[in-house]
Amino acid sequence: MKIGVIGTGYVGLVTGTCFADSGNDVICVDIDEKKVQRMQNGEVPIYEPGLNRVFDRAIREKRLHFTTRIEEAFKESEIIFLCLPTPPGANGQADLSFVLDVANDLGDLFNKYPGYKVIVNKSTVPVGTADKVKEKIAQKTDTEFDVVSNPEFLREGAAVEDFMKPERVVVGTTSEKAADLMTTLYEPFVRSGNPIIIMDERSSELTKYAANAMLATKITFMNEIANVCEKVGANVDNVRRGIGTDTRIGKRFLFAGIGYGGSCFPKDVQAIHHTADEYGYEFKILDSVMKVNESQKVSIVDKMKLYYNGNLEGKTVGIWGLSFKPETDDIREAPSLYITEQLAKMGVSMKAYDPEAIETFKEASSDETLSKMQFVEDRDSVIDGVDALIICTEWNEFRRPDMDRFAEVMNEPVIFDGRNLYDLDRARDAGLTYISVGRPSVN
Ligand code: UGA
Repeated sequence: MKIGVIGTGYVGLVTGTCFADSGNDVICVDIDEKKVQRMQNGEVPIYEPGLNRVFDRAIREKRLHFTTRIEEAFKESEIIFLCLPTPPGANGQADLSFVLDVANDLGDLFNKYPGYKVIVNKSTVPVGTADKVKEKIAQKTDTEFDVVSNPEFLREGAAVEDFMKPERVVVGTTSEKAADLMTTLYEPFVRSGNPIIIMDERSSELTKYAANAMLATKITFMNEIANVCEKVGANVDNVRRGIGTDTRIGKRFLFAGIGYGGSCFPKDVQAIHHTADEYGYEFKILDSVMKVNESQKVSIVDKMKLYYNGNLEGKTVGIWGLSFKPETDDIREAPSLYITEQLAKMGVSMKAYDPEAIETFKEASSDETLSKMQFVEDRDSVIDGVDALIICTEWNEFRRPDMDRFAEVMNEPVIFDGRNLYDLDRARDAGLTYISVGRPSVN
């Protein structure tokens, strides 16, 4: 098939590349000329494991092309994916201006190149957006077309794998013609028998928000269980194992920590809450989810204040991990941003390392915070001569350090672990003071 992808952010680029890999001809469009040039030269502009390999192959086999002109992609394609940004606008509602501006251009192009096409909303968009896009295009043209909702469920850091082997594909359309085309397109990805679920547009749009809000709630619930564990002297690892074996609950996404971050959960929880509000429904549980997550992100700072009796000024603290989760350089809504900001304000000096996210972290932080921070090139240099270590992100390389080295090179072997990386006995044997989330402290 011939496919156009408008917007080459992380969703658009993964979508375009993976569709090219399954044998389609794909033209990706972006307004950023420099970025388009880089991609034309074979460069992948984002860090996403496995993407380079598939991208190189698609370029080599001449099935993946880049342009700054929507028209070029439009005239050739049977299906056009909109993978545009929908940033939080006023009141936490997603800002649709990028999507609707492009819909407007598509209307004109339908007149210039008449013929049936399917326009697909891949970006996370509020309920009712498919109707709005349809209306916008229909204002300009009489040509037959369909607008389909097809939300993505890709995790950053595992996006290629998730795209290639989706647990489900959700397609929102009431048009049989569009449903058939979408099914043909996705069939190669669901050979193992996972479903392509066809439903109406609004249900499909809501499915995306419901999935992310459910997952954010699940994490938040476990974070609150962890907070209760700390109060009553229980261990959240045991509780997690105890409940996760119930298949109704499931083992995954039950890890307590310093809160969820990233570009998706915080924005989507806010957006579905707002949509409900607009329709006169108060989504109460999500009020709590947002509130708990905010305090969970800085819970480590509270634990430090308690440990040092409020005297943190003048301390030097090491930081392992800055990105919101491993295998990404994405720093959006990362707990590290809030933790470092608070520590800098309290006069704490910091020495930090992250395998991918140092540059993005610098871009997102204030001068005031950065003036208290030093960045180093490797995990081990962080801990030399620091008074304590904070673990913000569970990168693999932090899971198996030389445990004896902490006591050898740190001023004091104190670890505040926001990701529960170490077994408590292992920490005790290494002579650490080890304060984690929802588990008894070791000292
Ligand atoms: C999330 C969803 O998992 C994807 O399905 C969805 O497509 C994507 O948002 C999106 O809307 O685009 P992502 O934000 O990449 O993907 O990250 P996740 O791996 O889901 O992690 C989200 C946050 O939850 C991270 O901060 C992570 O540290 C935290 N988390 C996750 C926990 O604190 N505990 C867990 O057990 C799992």
